[in-house]
Amino acid sequence: MFSVNEKVLFENGQEGYVSRIRDMLKIEYGESPKASVVTFGCQQNVSDSEHLKGILFSLGYSITDNLEEADFIIYNTCAVREHAQDRVYGNIGKVKGYKKKKPNLIAAVCGCMAQQEIVAEKIKKSYPYIDIVFGTQVSHRLPEFIYKRLSGSKRIFELSLPNEPIVEDVPVLRDGKFKGWLPIMNGCNNFCTYCIVPYVRGRERSREPQKILDEAKAMIEAGYKEITLLGQNVNSYGKGCEHGVTFAKLLRMINDIEGDFVIRFMTSHPKDCTEELLETIRDCKKVSRHLHLPFQSGSSRILKLMNRYYDRETYLSLIKKAKELIPDVSLTSDIIVGFPGETYEDFKETLSLVKEVEFSSLFTFIYSPRNNTPAASMPDIISRKEKGKWFDELLRLQEEIAEKNIEKYIGKTYRVICDDFGSSEGYMSGHTNGTAVVEFKADEEMLGRFVDIKINSYEGVFKGEIIN
Ligand code: SAH
Ligand code: SF4
Ligand code: F3S
Repeated sequence: MFSVNEKVLFENGQEGYVSRIRDMLKIEYGESPKASVVTFGCQQNVSDSEHLKGILFSLGYSITDNLEEADFIIYNTCAVREHAQDRVYGNIGKVKGYKKKKPNLIAAVCGCMAQQEIVAEKIKKSYPYIDIVFGTQVSHRLPEFIYKRLSGSKRIFELSLPNEPIVEDVPVLRDGKFKGWLPIMNGCNNFCTYCIVPYVRGRERSREPQKILDEAKAMIEAGYKEITLLGQNVNSYGKGCEHGVTFAKLLRMINDIEGDFVIRFMTSHPKDCTEELLETIRDCKKVSRHLHLPFQSGSSRILKLMNRYYDRETYLSLIKKAKELIPDVSLTSDIIVGFPGETYEDFKETLSLVKEVEFSSLFTFIYSPRNNTPAASMPDIISRKEKGKWFDELLRLQEEIAEKNIEKYIGKTYRVICDDFGSSEGYMSGHTNGTAVVEFKADEEMLGRFVDIKINSYEGVFKGEIIN
């Protein structure tokens, strides 16, 4: 179910802590100390949390979802929108109560939100029961932080952002048995004017291709059927590196690994999405025919203010090319509604782009001002209520498109991984190109296997049957 390589903790400067922590944990909590990892935010954070669980497991903790029974709780946080941060504050506030019941509980906050100085300060002042706070680039040092706290050290705050190469071989305890995340890079250099990610994740750093290939091979040998490559902007993988391997080349290398598996990836930035990449998706049989290509706004004027380095026309010609080269491609996107200075006329261009492209699904967000980003100081006169109306209009349009497109699926056959239980007894489910859910009659033992499903109808979800 997971792979934990304890040896690695001995290779990244944490070696001195491991055995000492084990002994200390036994004294403090008995034979089976328990740890919980609470995750907010994107897939990158989910993957980071899998590594935190790997480290905790190597230290002797067993992992539990029940926070009330945990001896160590870590909140891995997200800062991308205000709402994400509010949720975190609500959650960490509960630690006070947990500590009343279990005074030797240790609580930590890490991740993108914690990386901001202003947040760390707030935790320092207003959440005195949080013991450890650390940022996005030092999580492999978790043993050191726990050791210091167990040895009676005061609260620990470690927010440095060294921007050094990604630390390799950190233990990992993956959540899924047959679908797994594989980070290929970290950080972002794009500085879209609304976005906090470059500030909290630091500079873009790519892993060595050989390390990625080794990990992919190990995952396939362990039975993983789907590998999703992760990065804030996977299309710029390898930029500035000596190895000269582009993202397209990396995809081909992974595609050449023996075995029956699917490769997915996110996120692609339209400015770096090349024809070479589209041809690679077309040519590589193991690469899913899915492209998540956030366009953010349909208005070239707003795209310029967002610092996105493409305009409406370039985006649309990229989509045209993608549809030409990969006729069965499934397209998804992210959109921001109500960027500062956006007028209803600009927003109508977003609507018309959505109408023209017909995405399989959309992730839509109302603009949320982020600390110290350029957009946060741009004049923003449209009220939240008005933005809400635009947002609803966009949702309605996408619903109409989705409804109209249902017909396109009926009668088609998809190769899917049987990845979950269906909504009723005797049914299982899977995803077509990773986007639409389909249910079919199958036994539990099909879980994790590939099946060819012919879609027959739509009843809230697609219903189909196994044809092999
Ligand atoms: N690296 C990815 C996305 C990272 S954040 C990319 O470049 O596309 C995920 C999504 O959150 C973004 O695509 C954007 O649509 C949204 N987002 C980022 N900052 C935001 C903000 N300040 N307000 C609202 N939505 C935001
Ligand atoms: Fe944020 Fe832009 Fe980087 Fe994506 S590419 S993480 S939206 S700055
Ligand atoms: Fe959030 Fe950080 Fe991801 S800000 S969206 S968890 S990169």
